[in-house]
Amino acid sequence: MDAKRLAGERAADYVEDGMAVGLGTGSTVYWTLMKLGERIKDGLHIKGIATSKATEKLAAELGIPLTDFAEVEQLDLAIDGADEFDARLQLIKGGGGALLREKLVAANAKRFIVVADDSKAVTNLGKFPLPVEVVQFGWEATRRQLEKLGCSTQLRMKEQAPFISDNGNYIIDCQFEAITDDAVKLNEQMNRIPGVVENGLFVNMADLVIVGGRDGVVTEQR
Ligand code: A5P
Repeated sequence: MDAKRLAGERAADYVEDGMAVGLGTGSTVYWTLMKLGERIKDGLHIKGIATSKATEKLAAELGIPLTDFAEVEQLDLAIDGADEFDARLQLIKGGGGALLREKLVAANAKRFIVVADDSKAVTNLGKFPLPVEVVQFGWEATRRQLEKLGCSTQLRMKEQAPFISDNGNYIIDCQFEAITDDAVKLNEQMNRIPGVVENGLFVNMADLVIVGGRDGVVTEQR
């Protein structure tokens, strides 16, 4: 079976009746959502908060009831994919551009489970360009400030126009040689730059990474 599918489906086992669940975005958590859709047909009762418009749409198609933070104070669990994870369970996320809602949802969950195939495991974060969501106004200035942190940058494009996030912002992808020492510090430095809304470093957030191996074996890293 596909490694992403193995990881994604396993995560659905952690969802219990009555839970409020953060629903991630991407092709790995897709399999979690499919499994949850099946379990709901068999009588599971949950409510979800989606991390993107794409996941909102998929949840509606699968019959997963959605709610919001007006109704839910804290999610029991959030499940989401990642673009990279290291041995400390630090992540880079945002390859699909959903990082802001993903971070907000994970930060307001009691437990955060990451699903990934084994190609996402890295020794040092940073080979995958770090996505940073920025407001459109003055993005060129924000970009220059980001470059002072030691990266080269690229404004994310889609069909020859800037990519627009679900929140109406731009994404600047920041390529570091490697984020070797202090992801905690870099996360803070980035978010202090005026114009930065959020960045794709998820540090001290994940409780568990479920890894689908291309050999068909699923492992769990805590
Ligand atoms: C979406 O913005 C991302 O953070 C995804 O969660 C991440 O890119 C993982 O996606 P895949 O599971 O599709 O690889």
